[in-house]
This record gives sequence, structure tokens and C-alpha cells, in this order.
Amino acid sequence: MSKIAEDCLNQLFHNARTHNKWQDKPVSNELLQEVYNLMRLGPTSANSCPLRLFFLKSKEAKERLRPHLDPGNVDKTMVAPATALLAFDLLFYENLPYLFPFANAKSWFEGKPEKALVTAFRNSTLQGAYFIIAARACGLDCGPMSGFSNEGVDKEFFPDGRFKSNFLCNLGYGDPSGLPGPRAPRLSFDEACKVI
Ligand SMILES: Cc1cc2nc3c(=O)[nH]c(=O)nc-3n(C[C@H](O)[C@H](O)[C@H](O)COP(=O)(O)O)c2cc1C
Repeated sequence: MSKIAEDCLNQLFHNARTHNKWQDKPVSNELLQEVYNLMRLGPTSANSCPLRLFFLKSKEAKERLRPHLDPGNVDKTMVAPATALLAFDLLFYENLPYLFPFANAKSWFEGKPEKALVTAFRNSTLQGAYFIIAARACGLDCGPMSGFSNEGVDKEFFPDGRFKSNFLCNLGYGDPSGLPGPRAPRLSFDEACKVI
């Protein structure tokens, strides 16, 4: 493997920002499929793939979400071309005979709801991060959000309790005029890392 080209690094990292304002340009279902097909290749423990994605594009779907959003997240979400609801499947292990045929991995989680919950949350969060990078690789901008009522969203979208919401992510083509300013600093290597 070799390092990817500088313009790819710029698109994925250096120039990528969290967007709040969106150009009036739709996001096609074909592009969402392309993003998913990249995202799904990122690693998860025992290849558990617990993330479930719901792309809210219709006015009707956005209205179902509206009452559960924190006030500061309402306007940008209502006008975003698509809002991804990233959730996890508490029964993800039912797919393990297919996804991880090398061992009886289903037995590691069946009847162990706490272990299943921690595993589903950890790995769906990882998949959420892969999702953001995959969306950027496909030319999309992202606006991830945890400012909403998980309980309210779960009641509205997942009444049978099998899926739980993790976070939301607005998707589209960002309008840089909506950025709060220059990028806020990040911790330096020395502040956040130790080689031991
Ligand atoms: C999981 C997650 C949850 C976030 N929740 C919110 C939110 O509820 N509302 C909001 O305006 N921004 C939210 N943000 C945006 C962050 O504040 C933003 O990504 C961060 O400040 C970095 O900004 P930058 O990408 O422009 O450098 C969230 C980001 C992430 C990754």
C-alpha cells in the first residue's frame, strides 16, 4: 500500500468541514448506494456490521424527525437534501453465520443482551465514521448530529425496539457561507498521543 494522493487527502480531511447550510442540489439514491457500498467495507468486530441506515429524504420522513431534534438542529435538517439516521440492530448476531462463517460467532452474543448492546454500539459508531469518510470520498458533505432525543426517535422509527438510534448525519453539497468560521483547533500529537 502507498499513501493516497494529496488531493484525496484534501477532500477527505484537510478541506472537509462539518456543514450547516446546503446548496439546492439533490442527492441521488444511486449515490447513497455508492456511499454504502464503500462504507460497508470498513472493519467491525467479528464482521458484525450492526449499522442500519435510514435515509430521510421525503418531507413526510423529515416531519417525523422534526419534533425530536434539538432546536439548533431543526432548520438545517429540514432543508438538507438527505438526513441519514444511523442506527444499530440489537439482533445483529443473527447474521453472523453468514457474515462470519469461520466460527460459531452467533453464540458469543445470543442470550447476552449487554454484550450485544456494547458490541452493536461500538461497531455501529465505527461504521458511522466510515460512513462520513465514504460520503466525502463520493463528493458529499456531511453534518453529523447527536443533538436529538434518541428515545423519541426510537419510539417514532423503531417501535418494536430491535433498532436503536446512534446519530444523525445531514448529507448534501455544503454551502461554505454556513460555516461558523475557520476550523477549530485539534489536539496536537503530543497532546493526544504517547508512544510507549
Ligand atoms: C457524533 C457527532 C455529533 C454532533 N452533534 C452535533 C449537533 O447536534 N449539532 C451541531 O450543530 N453539530 C454537531 N456536530 C458537529 C461538530 O461540532 C463538528 O463536527 C466539529 O466541531 C468539527 O467541525 P469541523 O468538521 O468543521 O472541523 C456533531 C459531530 C459529530 C461527529
